[in-house]
Parts: sequence; C-alpha cells; structure tokens
Amino acid sequence: MNLSELIRTRQSVRSYQERPVEPDKVKAIVESVRLAPSASNSQPWTLIIVDEPPLKDKVARATFSRTISFNQFSLEAPVIAVLTIEKPKVITQIGGWMKQREFPLIDIGIAAEHFCLQAAELGLGTCMVGWFDEKVIKQLLNIPRSTRVALLITLGYAVEGYPLRPKIRKDTNTMSRYNAYRH
Ligand SMILES: Cc1cc2nc3c(=O)[nH]c(=O)nc-3n(C[C@H](O)[C@H](O)[C@H](O)COP(=O)(O)O)c2cc1C
Repeated sequence: MNLSELIRTRQSVRSYQERPVEPDKVKAIVESVRLAPSASNSQPWTLIIVDEPPLKDKVARATFSRTISFNQFSLEAPVIAVLTIEKPKVITQIGGWMKQREFPLIDIGIAAEHFCLQAAELGLGTCMVGWFDEKVIKQLLNIPRSTRVALLITLGYAVEGYPLRPKIRKDTNTMSRYNAYRH
C-alpha cells in the first residue's frame, strides 16, 4: 500500500484474532516509532511492548471497568503497547515553558501514528487507547511514579472479515482554510 492508501484504510480495530504477532513485525513497528520526528529531536517517549499473556491481560483490564466498558476489546489483542512521556531536552523544556506548548504530547501523537500506520502496512490492526487506569498500568510495568503514561495501543490481527468502515470526519471546508482563520 502507498501512504495515501494506508491513511485511507487505517482504522481503529476493536476485534482481534488470537493469532500472535510475529516478532519481526513488532520489531518493524518499534523501529517506525524510533524514527518518528519530535521537537528538538528530543524523542520524549519510552515504548513498552507488552506481549506476555498474563501481564498483557492485566494491562488490558486496566482500560475498562464494569461501568465504563468500551475498551473491553483490548483483552482480545495479543499485544498492547504503552507509550510513556519522558522529559524532553532542556532546550525543549525551556521553549515549551516560554511558548506554553506541550511539545512531548505532540511528539507522542506523531510517534503513535507512525506505530499505527506501520502496523497497517504489515496487515495488522491497532487502536489507540487513551482511557486507562494510569496508576495500575504504572504498577504493572514498573514505571516510576514521576513518569506519566500517555497512551496505550492495542495490536493484533483483526478478525476475518472485519469491515472497513467509512470515515466519519468533518468536511474539508469545516476543518481547513486557506490563508486566514476567518475572512
Ligand atoms: C488520543 C486517542 C485516544 C483514544 N482513546 C480511545 C479509547 O480509549 N478507546 C477506543 O476505543 N478508541 C480510542 N481512540 C480511537 C478513536 O476513537 C478513533 O481513532 C476515532 O474514533 C477515529 O476512528 P478511526 O481510528 O477508526 O479512524 C483514541 C484515539 C486517540 C487518537
């Protein structure tokens, strides 16, 4: 697939086969995150691949509860990736403070999309998961108390026949402008 096709066909996958993900594919995805751009090239993330079944199940269980159950699908994914936020370079910290910008969050968003697009190219499904119990995830993965968890990403093969959904998006005139926000 070329990039345009990947962008059109990548979608959140919320139903997975039990089939494990080949280690070489996981490695290729890790490499795609490693190569992601970031403010001042700070690379302010750590990517933790969780693929040991009992541990992965515990991580999955930290993404939903009885009352808020929409992330229950994460139990099906054979792999869950966890992205933590690391301190950026001092220059980025100063720049971010002066300009009131959260550069690491922007950086991690880009890295996460590298992950998902690379996975899609390899025939794998992903879903970014921003709703989780951070405290539990940190305990499970031995993440220091001062380190924030930004995002989880489920990874695996979508079930056979998983439909390609039409994209529900704002129309072009609503989400983009030429030359001015308002004329
Ligand atoms: C930062 C972020 C957090 C998200 N958190 C969740 C989540 O907790 N659970 C979920 O099912 N989807 C989650 N999503 C997926 C979005 O719902 C999804 O990307 C959006 O609806 C567009 O659909 P698509 O990915 O299929 O194109 C998240 C996406 C992003 C970017």
